[in-house]
Amino acid sequence: MELPPGPRAPAAWQTVAWMARPAAFMRRAHERFGDPVTIRTYWTEEPMVLVSHPDAVRDVFRLDPAIAPAGESWEFLRPFAGEHSILLLDGDAHLRERRLMNAPFHGERMRAFGPVIAQLAREELGTWRGRVVTLERMRRLTLEIILRVVLGARDREAADLRAAVDATLDRVRSMPRMLAMALVQRDLGPRSPWGRFRRSVERFDALLLAVIARRRADPGDDSVLSFLLEQRDEDGRPPSDRHLRDQLVALLVGGHDSSASALAWAFERLARHPDVHARLREGDPAYLDAVVKEVLRLRPSLTIAPRRLLAPVEIAGRPLPAGVQVAACIWLANRREDLWPQAGAFRPDRWLGEEPKPNPLSWIPFGGGVRRCTGAPFAEMEMREVLRAAAGLRLRPVRAEPERARRSMLVVVPARGGEVLVG
Ligand code: HEM
Repeated sequence: MELPPGPRAPAAWQTVAWMARPAAFMRRAHERFGDPVTIRTYWTEEPMVLVSHPDAVRDVFRLDPAIAPAGESWEFLRPFAGEHSILLLDGDAHLRERRLMNAPFHGERMRAFGPVIAQLAREELGTWRGRVVTLERMRRLTLEIILRVVLGARDREAADLRAAVDATLDRVRSMPRMLAMALVQRDLGPRSPWGRFRRSVERFDALLLAVIARRRADPGDDSVLSFLLEQRDEDGRPPSDRHLRDQLVALLVGGHDSSASALAWAFERLARHPDVHARLREGDPAYLDAVVKEVLRLRPSLTIAPRRLLAPVEIAGRPLPAGVQVAACIWLANRREDLWPQAGAFRPDRWLGEEPKPNPLSWIPFGGGVRRCTGAPFAEMEMREVLRAAAGLRLRPVRAEPERARRSMLVVVPARGGEVLVG
């Protein structure tokens, strides 16, 4: 069975383009080869077929996990994520984890976190003067938020965990380090890329297990960890430390860089659209929500929702063989010219008033189907709170031209870190 066409450049070249110029790489591949298009990178062992038409996206999100396990696409995260991680599981085990992890991030429980987020956002934004690299600041803020919300961590405990998470993620955020790890997938001692990574994970684990032990001894705060500690399996047993550790890591990893990148893009856009920023100042909640939706449409932090095929399938009437990855391409779907008027323009107004409602399968920043982001309502609330706190700032771009996108670990960030001038 033939794969859809795609760039013929060697995988090494495609990998560099995928990492360093992801937006241009996906756009050109789509323009040249259409939809679907097959790319070959070191990101995955198999070729990856990208689709963006709503019919194809729907078929990908409906694939049976037994033949298209998404967990296998994140296999490379196993050394950090752990064997119980929701990110790596499929089938019934995955659904069990999902039910558990969804609860604290929806409805009343989630809304109760709003005031804490608003307070932390005001404290952070209150320090902004002159040139600010918003990505760095948003990484700090979203990590602080997730440590407080998920672990109930404060002060010294939060500071130690923050340093350990940063040390671990920094090993995989930079492109050269990530490539070095992808190429040499073995621990060659304490100074090798994997060796350093493994040791920082061990340090982080020790801290996290200590937090779990403290909360077991003295539960009762409103954190997600305290909620998870109360859960029991079918036999009435509480979750093991290792299980809790893996759930917490999934939330810390899933809920930190993705939100930080989305917010850095929001600042990158707002600094270049003073009209939008001025309307935010008027305080209309519907407009605030429209800004969040438009940032997530135009600059989604994750570019693909991949599934690995264990058997041949048909996607929008096109057969695909086993042994390849198929991915709903978030970046391409969210900006299809045939579905979005002025697709490349930052125009929150498209979400308001008389404009026709977009097809839900062409706005997919949180993926879809049984793998749709469990933190989506929380992430949108977090963005709204931070942008509400930022409404009063005076922002200008450092350079007039838009920032291009580059990859940092799993997410796509503004290449100059979303730098703005404040005041
Ligand atoms: C703007 C911020 C965020 C974006 C753009 C985002 C996007 C995504 C995407 C695209 C997926 C994969 C979906 C798929 O394969 O179909 C995902 C999965 C996931 N996200 Fe998010 N996410 C964000 C924030 C968060 C937050 C705040 C949390 C937790 C507090 C979180 C936790 C997770 C988890 C646990 C998964 C795995 C779900 C599963 O495998 O069933 N994310 N996210």
